[in-house]
Amino acid sequence: MIRTIRFAGCGTTGVPLLLVHGFPLDHRMWCGQLDGLGDIARVVALDLPGFGGTPPDSDDGTATRMDAFADHVLALADALGFSTFVVGGLSMGGYVALAVARRRPERLSGLLLFDTRAEPDSDEARPAREELAIRVLAQGVEGLVDEFSARLLAPRTLAERPHVVRAIGEMIRSASAVGVAAASRGMALRPDARPHLAAIRVPTLVVGGEEDRVTPPETIEKLAAAIPGAECLIVPGAGHLAPLEEPRLVNAGLRRFLARL
Ligand code: MLT
Repeated sequence: MIRTIRFAGCGTTGVPLLLVHGFPLDHRMWCGQLDGLGDIARVVALDLPGFGGTPPDSDDGTATRMDAFADHVLALADALGFSTFVVGGLSMGGYVALAVARRRPERLSGLLLFDTRAEPDSDEARPAREELAIRVLAQGVEGLVDEFSARLLAPRTLAERPHVVRAIGEMIRSASAVGVAAASRGMALRPDARPHLAAIRVPTLVVGGEEDRVTPPETIEKLAAAIPGAECLIVPGAGHLAPLEEPRLVNAGLRRFLARL
């Protein structure tokens, strides 16, 4: 099947770095990395199906599993000629990056996990995924804008960085309702990634935001501790979207990591 995957890229030399966005955003959340890392990596940030410019996988909001998203990432790597690459994912993108690491470890030269977790949804959390899917299919994505800005961003970002708040709104409004529903249902079905963490053999950096309430620093530190040799970076002042909220601090950490590969 021929399909379209929208992506943005920068840089022509260095290690290939594929970046996978969080929910319900798109490749533009990596604008700081696209702008700031092109001199040391071939940075590619994609839109998962149903987000940004990539069409959804189905037209009715049927669950898209994280493994299916991982297949899209691998298909894009194939299309770009990346035999091996670093994959980086934020939150939902981290679930996808962990699925790539589990399914095709030989394709990875490094792993970047931002503001994410290895645990599956709890029995209490799963019904909220379905409620969100039903709500978005009935009412569209507009209602998510304020809810997710408040959830994803640190208070200081909300108060002092209107361009970041605007960017979140633009990304959410670009998502398709069926794509958001499909991803929400897919996240509820994701398997427990913890049993596979000890088998990760590539250099790994786990990044979190000091003020992240979705995946707080304890979650990030626990994730890093479970991956052999992984480094951990907690970004001061950042919420759940450290690469977008504090691009300079995050890029400094990424530069150190990428330079060692
Ligand atoms: C995300 O930012 O991608 C979401 O917080 C992930 C989730 O809801 O589990």
